[in-house]
This record gives sequence, C-alpha cells and structure tokens, in this order.
Amino acid sequence: MAAEAGTIARPLTTSSVAAANPLRAGLASSRISDPCNVVFFGASGDLVKRMLIPAMYNLRLGDVLPTNFGIIGFARSANSNDEFRAQMKEAVDTYSRSGEARDPLWTDFANRISYVSGDFDDREAFTRLRAALEENDQKLGTQGNRLFYLSTPPSVFGKIVAQLAVVGLGPKDQATGWSRIVIEKPFGTDLESARALQSEVGKVFEEKRIYRIDHYLGKEPVQDIMALRFANVIFEPIWNRRYVDCIQITAAETVGVEGRGGYYDSAGALRDMIQNHVINLLALVAMEPPISPNADHIRDEKFKVLSALRPISVDHVPKMTARGQYGPGLIEGKPVPGYREESSVAPDSTTETYASVKFFIDNWRWADVPFYLRSGKRLARKTSEIAVMFRGIPHRIFGESGDQIETNTLVMKIQPEEGVSLRFNAKVPGPKMHIRAVTMDFNYGTGFGVVSAPAYERLISDAMRGDATLFTRWDAVEAAWEAVTPIMQRWSESRVVDFPNYLAGSQGPQSADALLIADGREWRRI
Ligand code: BG6
Repeated sequence: MAAEAGTIARPLTTSSVAAANPLRAGLASSRISDPCNVVFFGASGDLVKRMLIPAMYNLRLGDVLPTNFGIIGFARSANSNDEFRAQMKEAVDTYSRSGEARDPLWTDFANRISYVSGDFDDREAFTRLRAALEENDQKLGTQGNRLFYLSTPPSVFGKIVAQLAVVGLGPKDQATGWSRIVIEKPFGTDLESARALQSEVGKVFEEKRIYRIDHYLGKEPVQDIMALRFANVIFEPIWNRRYVDCIQITAAETVGVEGRGGYYDSAGALRDMIQNHVINLLALVAMEPPISPNADHIRDEKFKVLSALRPISVDHVPKMTARGQYGPGLIEGKPVPGYREESSVAPDSTTETYASVKFFIDNWRWADVPFYLRSGKRLARKTSEIAVMFRGIPHRIFGESGDQIETNTLVMKIQPEEGVSLRFNAKVPGPKMHIRAVTMDFNYGTGFGVVSAPAYERLISDAMRGDATLFTRWDAVEAAWEAVTPIMQRWSESRVVDFPNYLAGSQGPQSADALLIADGREWRRI
C-alpha cells in the first residue's frame, strides 16, 4: 500500500532528491526489514506512548516498515484490542512528530495492533502471547520473525526472558524465522545486578540477538561523530594528546524528574546519564579508527577504549568528581520546585541530580588528557555537546597587547542544535593587527535541508533489520559499570551535607567548577 504523503522525510527517488538538494543526491533510499512482529512489553507505559508507538507509526508513514508487520502490546492492565488501539491512537495524536494519525493509513496500522494482558511472570499470559504471534504469522504474513522490546522496569527483564523460554518463544525453540530482544536502559542498577541480568538474558538469547538501547546512539549528530573523525583527513593528526588540552562532554537538561521521581530517586544522574549516554559519547570521540563500519569492528574499538579508562580509586573520588542536587529556582523565567519537593522523592533525599567526573584514558593517544563529563537536571539550558579543546599556540607573534588569542575549540553539537562548530582566531579588518576569535558553524538542518528523525525511529528500524551497530554490546556495558562503581561506592558511603547545592536554572554546583579550577581550566558555559 502506498503511504500517505506525510510532513516527514519520505524515501524519494534519487533524481527528485538531487533536484531538491544536491547534498542528498545519490543517497540510498529506505532500508526495509523482513516481515516481523514487534512485541512491546510494558505497553501501557510512558515510553511506548510517547516514543515507541509514534516511532512505529512514523516509520510506517515513511514507508520504512515491511509490508507485513504486526505489533503486540503486553502489559498488566486489562485492555481489549480495541481499547489498546484507541490508547495508541491518542498517543500518536499527542506525540507523533507528523501530527495526528491519519486515515486510511491509521486504520491499516491499527488493524495490525493487538494486546495481551498479564503479569510478567504469568505463564498463561505468555502462552496467549505465543498464540497471538502465531495468529499474526498466519493472518499478517509475519513469517515467525519476532522482535521483543522490553520497555519495562529493569526488575522484570529477567522474568520476561524466563517466561519467553518457558512457553517456547526462545530463539532455540524456533523452527522458522528469527527472534531478537531489545532491552531498554538501565541495564542493571550496578555492576553486580548488570552481570546477574546478563547471565539471565544470556541463558535464552545469545549476544548477537540482544539489542541494548542507548537512545543517544540513535541521534543523528552522535552518528556523525564517526563521520567527522573517519571521513576527513584533517582532524585525525590533531586528535591526540599533542594538540588536545582536554575534552568536555556535557548533557545538560532544563527538565526536572518529570513524574519519574520514584525511579530517579533510586538512580541519580551518575546511573541515569553518565554510566550510559555520556560514557558512550566518550567512547565515540576517543576510540581508535575501526577497520570497517561493521557492528563488531566498531564495538571492538569502543570496548578497547573503555577498558583503557583509568580506574578511579574510592579514595580519589572526591578529587575526580562532583555531585549536586537542585533546589528551587527559575527555568525560563518561571519558578520551579526543588528536587526534594518533587513527587515521589524523599524530602531528605541525597540523590544527585548533577554529576561530573574527570576521567583519564591510559593509552598512547590520550595519556594525561582529562575528559571532563557532566550531566544534570534543571540547569540553565538544554544542551548536549562534546567540546574538543585544543592547546594554546606555542609562540605569539601578533595581536595587539589587549587582544585575547583564544585556544581553538571544536564542538560537536548534539542537541538542541545539531551541527559542528570550530572556534579559531582571525584578524579584525582594519589597519591594525587586531585578533579576535570567530566561530565557523555547520548546522545539519540548513546544511542538508532535513529534520533529523528521532533516535527511536532509527533504533527500532535497525533492530528490525538486525543491524546492531548502534546498540551497546555487553562488554562495553560492563566496562562502563566498572568505571562508575567506585564513585557510586564512595558517594553512598559519605554523607552529603550541602544538598541542595545548586539553584534550578543555574550552571550547576560550585564543586563542579572547582573540579576544573583545580586544573587551571573552566567549564564551557551551559
Ligand atoms: C534518559 C534519562 O535516558 O535520557 C532521562 O533516563 C533523561 O532522565 C533523558 O531526561 C534525556 O534524553 P534526551 O534525548 O532528552 O537528551
């Protein structure tokens, strides 16, 4: 069936693209998976409504789904198929980037959605799930291919996987087709629980069938980090300790905990953001060139660099890290409550809503270059970026005495702006040799004339196609937990007395500034 004309990017013919935008000429069009069923566990949850179903719908709208596909929601709440479809329509109407669901596409899409209600350890419910999958194979031609997507709290990941095996939905029981499992973050709550989870999941699904999501890896500008580094010759010679003074990686948010206080209060910024999204950015910017774009070649390099992270001993945690918690303040001019006043948060909570860490990488390329990582909620601005800050010039020959000659900075802007900027020094026009720093900016939107698709669209379609490149392999997850374990340990042992220690809407706690000031540096302004 032909897709309706949508407002989102659709596969276009090479010639029509070339006419519209020469930069996109010759690009391959849609990459479509085998026929398959996608089962969303935790189907009544927020992620399914806000992200996953709108992503599926937009993939359909963009003609990226196979003709034969089915979607099955599985959750505890009692719903009929029709009730679940109505909820999913509301989700698309509210959250889809292409606007409200439209007919005839929606009706066809909705007819492929069904629902199974049950507990995650209810064998009978899993038997019904199996029957629903087999029925879809007959009715929708999905050929026995299954993508199981665990969008549930991590505490039930193990139960779900075990039940899949019990009712014969494990890959080993399959006569035809493939099975893959997508696991949302967090993968464990610490090193030990992550290892236990890995061992449970690993009993049923081999590593090549496990797709661990880190949605940052699905963001276009994050994927562009590798293009910038490995499709250009000019950066590689200076991408090392001889030219780089330090690297600052920031994931700053203006939002608070958004109704997720219950989860967040037991997690905190280190587990929620640094252990996964921010450390994955570090791996991409610091890894060696992979020998090919093959998923495992890239993931081998990421693992190698993460295994070279210098362990931070528990005793050194205070001088290598800073943590904070927001108090009341102003975000975009409006008053917001402090973290301890958020719902489902303990009024004396010592959970950090801001974390910064200084890492070193013990290898030839990066020895003695600090990687400063930070992430926090309720900060001055939403911004995620990687800034490569270069060393100063060795000898100054010009510039008036009052001129500031800045060091060069290359910034990979992940969000909300998407692009790359380079800061360098230039002569101010005029008779004198005045020097000022200027910025050269590349922006994806204006450069390529497209709006990037949300990360979940890319990740779901990659998992359906069996491309694991943008998913985290177990060895990297384990290395990331190893890197943060001493910090978690020290932070849980030492009492915090100064929380809340930053105002909502500010740059974060002073202790984070002190971390860099001690090294004679400062953070880029958020
Ligand atoms: C999630 C965290 O993984 O990432 C959230 O659990 C956080 O706490 C979110 O808000 C940030 O994602 P993004 O894409 O908005 O930067």
